[in-house]
Amino acid sequence: MGEGISDYTKFSVDLRRHMWKAGVEMELRRLIWQIAVMGKYISAKIHESNRKLAGFKNIFDEEQLDLDKSADEILKNQLQYSGFVREYASEERDAVMQIGQGNEKYFITADPLDGSSLVETNLAIGTIIGIHKESIFAEGRNTLVASMYITYGPLITMVYSAGKGTHEFVLNREGEYVLSEENIQLRERGDIYSLGGLRREWTPEHLKYIEFLETEGYKLRYSGGFVPDINQVLIKRGGIFTYPALKKSPKGKLRLLFELQPMAFIIEQAGGKATDGKEEILSIKVDDLNQRSAIYIGSRFEVEKAREFLTGR
Ligand code: F6P
Ligand code: MN
Repeated sequence: MGEGISDYTKFSVDLRRHMWKAGVEMELRRLIWQIAVMGKYISAKIHESNRKLAGFKNIFDEEQLDLDKSADEILKNQLQYSGFVREYASEERDAVMQIGQGNEKYFITADPLDGSSLVETNLAIGTIIGIHKESIFAEGRNTLVASMYITYGPLITMVYSAGKGTHEFVLNREGEYVLSEENIQLRERGDIYSLGGLRREWTPEHLKYIEFLETEGYKLRYSGGFVPDINQVLIKRGGIFTYPALKKSPKGKLRLLFELQPMAFIIEQAGGKATDGKEEILSIKVDDLNQRSAIYIGSRFEVEKAREFLTGR
């Protein structure tokens, strides 16, 4: 068994080499690598907090809050000294932070620990990062140059796209991110669906769309963690994730800047689509840090179908 493992490592392609071969420019690949490394520290924090959990169960809620905040601190501290980042916007902060000197190329958005309430149940959670040039208050299509997410599950994986396809890496026992899936491409149509929001809160159009998927035999897959739920669609090569407009919250729940744009970028690079039901996620202008949007993201067929049901054409 030992031999098999070392053979695997010997011939594997690590993250830096992969990005270099793919022609990702130097600063961007250093940045992506640094953030991927931060995933190890965030993971260590998760483990640390779980150890405390055994002794201090009654302060569990505080621990959860701490975990979000520590993931945010880890990212901010690292990015501050990277030399490549001008501004840092995080779901954990009320305002954009100027962390560079003012001449750096990149603007970062982070959802440092998405789905942190799932820590309690030992389901996978994740970190979502968008890397922009020039500004974050624009259409994602004009400013996003790369996106990545890290999943903290039984394994730690990292998926990134720098506009040259979508690739998955697995953190191995030596602490290296090793290429596991290159140029992931979704099928035109998948067979799983992941549904956010209470059914009684759905609009009649959305309900009809979901009933269509149900008659087509789609299987339900929803963990309540955006990162693993999107990762499932990606790694299974298709299907749909939706968190729709709800009667009480017509903009849905998920955040455009921190959650939706980066995932839309990654899924588009894998040959899929992402819309709010009508418009493409990457064509929606960001005016507000906490802007929300409905989302339909996954294989082309399902996302197109959603538009047909929602617009009547
Ligand atoms: O960040 C918001 C989030 O926790 C996502 O990770 C997830 O997809 C969604 O909310 C789950 O929402 P709900 O609990 O309403 O299903
Ligand atoms: Mn989140």
